Amino acid sequence: MTNGIFISFEGIDGSGKSTQAKRLVATLRDLGHEVVHTREPGGSTGAEEIRSLVLEGDPDRWSAESEILLFTAARRDHMEKTINPAIDAGKIVVCDRFADSTRMYQGISRGDLRDVVDQLHRLMIGREPDLTVIVDMDPATGLARALSRQTSEERFEGFGEELQAKMRAGFLKLAEEFSDRCVVIDGARDMDHVAKEILETVQEHLS
Ligand code: ADP
Ligand code: TYD
Repeated sequence: MTNGIFISFEGIDGSGKSTQAKRLVATLRDLGHEVVHTREPGGSTGAEEIRSLVLEGDPDRWSAESEILLFTAARRDHMEKTINPAIDAGKIVVCDRFADSTRMYQGISRGDLRDVVDQLHRLMIGREPDLTVIVDMDPATGLARALSRQTSEERFEGFGEELQAKMRAGFLKLAEEFSDRCVVIDGARDMDHVAKEILETVQEHLS
């Protein structure tokens, strides 16, 4: 049996990650691959419960430190129940956000907690994706797209354009730090164009 492959999508809110992850999954399935489509926070029963805790309610509900623990607990369950079994079965896992999101949102948005995020990651997760697609997008467009969605998951959406800009710069820096697995894709083009470029990148990786 061949080894599975773990692909994550990252980027600021509203950059088009979910749209592109969905399209990639559909295309890979059409090509005959077995694909597990999942997301964070969430992707397993326990982690989806934690998702409601972290994404809904008062923006001041959790400190950044508590959030690191909650997101990491959710990720650990997601790894155990969904990601690892799929990879062990030789499937392609496509995950909408993973640990890089914690490195950004909890690691740099409210003070410098990146080292804490990395320490906990090493201790409890210990795995990076094989390929990370970072969808790059200007902060104003991303925010406008994110805010146009009707959802109760809005704890992070009141953070505004300044934070979006910080996150964008952070993701671009992360792409340099993890250049062996990260690819930056310009998300400010029509969906078909973006999807084609992502598919080409993934196919290169698969071959
Ligand atoms: P994310 O998962 O990064 O938050 P989504 O995929 O949910 O972003 O996209 C946010 C919104 O922007 C959705 O309404 C989606 O239809 C729209 N959108 C996504 N990609 C594009 C694109 N390339 N051009 C225009 N609109 C887009
Ligand atoms: P998501 O549903 O992917 O939102 P969007 O489609 O707007 O990008 O993620 C919800 C929010 O959770 C998003 O604002 C980023 C945040 N988040 C963290 O703060 N830390 C994390 O570890 C993860 C996975 C997400």
